[in-house]
Amino acid sequence: MKRLKIALIPGDGIGKEVLQEGVKVLKTIDKIDNNLFFEFEEFPWGCDYYVKNGKMMDDNGLEQLKDFDAIYLGAVGHPSVPDHVSLWDLLLKIRKGFDQYVNLREITLLNQSLTPLKDKSEEDIDFLVIRENSEGEYAGVGEWMNKGTPEEVVLQTSVFSRKGTERIIRYAFEEARRQKKSLTSISKGNALNYSMVFWDQVFNEISQEYPDVKTYSYLVDAASMYFIKEPERFEIVVTTNLFGDILTDLGAAITGGLGLAAGANINPERQFPPMFEPIHGSAPDIAGKGIANPLAAIWSVAQMMEYFHEGNWKDYIIESIRVLLKEGRYLTRDLGGKSLTTETGDRLIEILTQMVTENKSK
Ligand SMILES: NC(=O)c1ccc[n+]([C@@H]2O[C@H](COP(=O)([O-])OP(=O)(O)OC[C@H]3O[C@@H](n4cnc5c(N)ncnc54)[C@H](O)[C@@H]3O)[C@@H](O)[C@H]2O)c1
Repeated sequence: MKRLKIALIPGDGIGKEVLQEGVKVLKTIDKIDNNLFFEFEEFPWGCDYYVKNGKMMDDNGLEQLKDFDAIYLGAVGHPSVPDHVSLWDLLLKIRKGFDQYVNLREITLLNQSLTPLKDKSEEDIDFLVIRENSEGEYAGVGEWMNKGTPEEVVLQTSVFSRKGTERIIRYAFEEARRQKKSLTSISKGNALNYSMVFWDQVFNEISQEYPDVKTYSYLVDAASMYFIKEPERFEIVVTTNLFGDILTDLGAAITGGLGLAAGANINPERQFPPMFEPIHGSAPDIAGKGIANPLAAIWSVAQMMEYFHEGNWKDYIIESIRVLLKEGRYLTRDLGGKSLTTETGDRLIEILTQMVTENKSK
């Protein structure tokens, strides 16, 4: 029997609402599967905590989290706290502190009606973006000189270390080899004449070790166009922190929007716990109304199951989402329905339970 300790950080706004639905899915798995047992502990960190305590999380927050098997996060951000504070003092602190240098975002269309791209179907949009998650443009290095004067100058430095660049590219090659798929590197070597020339060089070097993996290399501007015009070009993509951040929102837009997009933050060496989250923010415009789409948060649970080597559960969850989308009766407003967050979550659990029970009795 696997006992898995999950740290819950609901965070702010709709983060709290959608996380509850994901926890319901975990509790359903716990109930059905005699080999899996989840223990939960909730942490009240986020912007409310900041307003009361002047910090987003406890000073020894990472110490408190380090022995969990996984962290499950809702979203952070509130108009009362500057976004760079809420991001850097919680989310990025965990990603960096736990060296979660791989960010996995699946761009998978589960129902043709969800894509705004004409003539594209489920077969055309099904790829994985592997985003560098620990350095690059989000290294937090820079300077703000002569602040508030006419001579004001701001520097935001990208950091691409050999270690950091090699390990993410190597991870992507391993994944492409394992899945027997092609690997596309997305960079910008023509304009970023240090960092991206280096990235392309490392990609070429490592590709020599993987002659069985077919590779492509695109500039980020051309790749953005291909995401829309020819998404079928992509199978596995590896890219930098900033480009990955932007491109995966574009990926979300062609597969149903932010309400369906999930992300996993992984330390592949498993020295630290991973973190699973919907990629959307706290959505202050709809927070508290109970209308947020919980499917991204539930998709994160599927990614968590894959990390725990419970691939069957991942497949069941994704298939349940597919069925829910197809029947179309319990969709939230962002997907054109009228259901509440809880109604969508409850229906998903009914479908999941029925699917697993039917499969067991076969
Ligand atoms: N991972 C994170 O915690 C994270 C990510 C992005 C933004 N943020 C923070 O969230 C706050 C709001 O940022 P934003 O408005 O740019 O992005 P957002 O993702 O919160 O919202 C963008 C738009 O998408 C809609 N939306 C997002 N998730 C949805 C869902 N599950 N169901 C239905 N509609 C959904 C929102 O209503 C909004 O109109 C900011 O404070 C920002 O810093 C946090």
